[in-house]
Amino acid sequence: MKSALLYSLLALPAIHAAPTGTNPPLRGSEDLLGYSPSNTMSDKQTDDIPYVPVPGQTDTPDMGVYLDFEDADSPQPMRGDTGGTDPGPRNENYDRINSDKLAPPGTDSGQTINAQWPMGLSHNRLGLSGSGWARQENEVVMPAATEMAGVDMRLEAGAYRELHWHLASEWSLVLNGSCRIEAVNENGQTFVDDVSEGDVWFFPPGIPHSIQALDDGVEFLLIFDDGTFSEDNTFLATEVFAHQPKAVLAKNFDLPVAAFDDIPEDELYIFPGTPAPANISEQNVTGAAGVVPREQTYSYHFSEQPAHEVQGGSVKIVDSLTFPSSYNTAAALVTVHPGGMREIHWHPSSDEWTFFISGQARATLFTAPSTATTFDYRPGDVGYFPMSNSHYIENTGDEDLVFLEVLKTDQFTDISLGQWIGSTPKQIVADTLHLPQSALDRLKTQKMYVVAGGNATDA
Ligand SMILES: *[C@@H]1O[C@H](CO)[C@@H](O)[C@H](O)[C@H]1NC(C)=O
Ligand SMILES: *[C@@H]1O[C@H](CO)[C@@H](O)[C@H](O)[C@H]1NC(C)=O
Ligand SMILES: *[C@@H]1O[C@H](CO)[C@@H](O)[C@H](O)[C@H]1NC(C)=O
Ligand SMILES: *[C@@H]1O[C@H](CO)[C@@H](O)[C@H](O)[C@H]1NC(C)=O
Repeated sequence: MKSALLYSLLALPAIHAAPTGTNPPLRGSEDLLGYSPSNTMSDKQTDDIPYVPVPGQTDTPDMGVYLDFEDADSPQPMRGDTGGTDPGPRNENYDRINSDKLAPPGTDSGQTINAQWPMGLSHNRLGLSGSGWARQENEVVMPAATEMAGVDMRLEAGAYRELHWHLASEWSLVLNGSCRIEAVNENGQTFVDDVSEGDVWFFPPGIPHSIQALDDGVEFLLIFDDGTFSEDNTFLATEVFAHQPKAVLAKNFDLPVAAFDDIPEDELYIFPGTPAPANISEQNVTGAAGVVPREQTYSYHFSEQPAHEVQGGSVKIVDSLTFPSSYNTAAALVTVHPGGMREIHWHPSSDEWTFFISGQARATLFTAPSTATTFDYRPGDVGYFPMSNSHYIENTGDEDLVFLEVLKTDQFTDISLGQWIGSTPKQIVADTLHLPQSALDRLKTQKMYVVAGGNATDA
């Protein structure tokens, strides 16, 4: 295609066309400058690109329904009478899964921050000998996500994330499989526990810990309380040993220097290990200080917490009210049934770092005074909604949508637009928003969390 175009350009009646059989020079001649007689019109038609609008695409742009371009013959950047066809160049794969980017709702306006990062575009770091991998989202790829950063990590059966610590706090949700986590706190108290899919852990800044996959391997999500966090910059056990004089190590541990002959020269990071004993008590090292007291432990078996059912799905929250050690990270795991939507809301005390686990979604980020951008999300995508900026999260697929909302705060809180308006004197609402009495009568004073959406198409 490209070379055909090049040939047709060269075949135009250019004054300095190269003689047949010779290779044209790298640059053209000054005769090609503007006003030259060689100016011609392309013979390609770009105004008859065939396309079939998808449902909702010919609605007035402010209706803004999700446009499903997944199976569209030729998705076009058009809504109602706005936009126009796209003759290319383009990558239709992006357009098909980001229809709100290609053909935004008419209610979008201006430019907000970028609130989307697909982990699929993150550079993977591969572990040693087939032991796993890790990929991250931080300020490098999402510059406005300043408060939190995230890592998606896989450890094959028996593999370790090396013993380490870091400046940030670490909150984790196990996405698949199970692992054994252990830590030692500043009092010398020890902690060891097994966590599996749906469970949560939290390590405060500076607390050294390690993670080893059990027999089924593990994948987990890590959220750090610092947007600049990088997995490449943690304090590793191998590195702290490698960078002490051997004589100092010997003195420190009261051991002969030879004991350190074989310590690794480089970090191991993610590496295969000896399988953990099935009986966790065999790895329960307890010194005089004893174990970390129960109310301060670093894990919460969130998988065993039943979800709170709401109209269009379910919600469950874990924060410092039930998991005290997690003093600065709160989270909600939300399920939205097809047709449903996490209601329009905002978080008054924190930015939100979001991870999409299954299904598909879209969200409109609204920023004062009048900017709004709609983003589409798939599993493995990160979302980011700054403090007090409103957003909804709508299920745009035909299966359940599951996602995680993470806040950097001690308690999970949100303000519901529906509850606020429903709890405001009706006269004020009518004067401000010009809603008819019939609508005022149906406003709700309770927080919905997730709405079913069954009445959205009523007359
Ligand atoms: C966990 O991984 C296994 C193996 O790929 C897969 O069959 C299963 O569906 C995964 N579970 C979840 C919750 O994704
Ligand atoms: C570890 O040992 C302590 C007592 O030494 C005990 O209280 C604790 O339950 C044990 N933990 C596990 C996981 O076996
Ligand atoms: C687990 O290990 C502990 C400590 O070694 C031991 O006392 C206990 O009997 C073991 N439990 C089982 C079920 O093997
Ligand atoms: C539709 O509205 C009616 C009347 O307010 C309400 O009872 C019902 O629960 C709503 N249905 C859905 C699916 O939202």
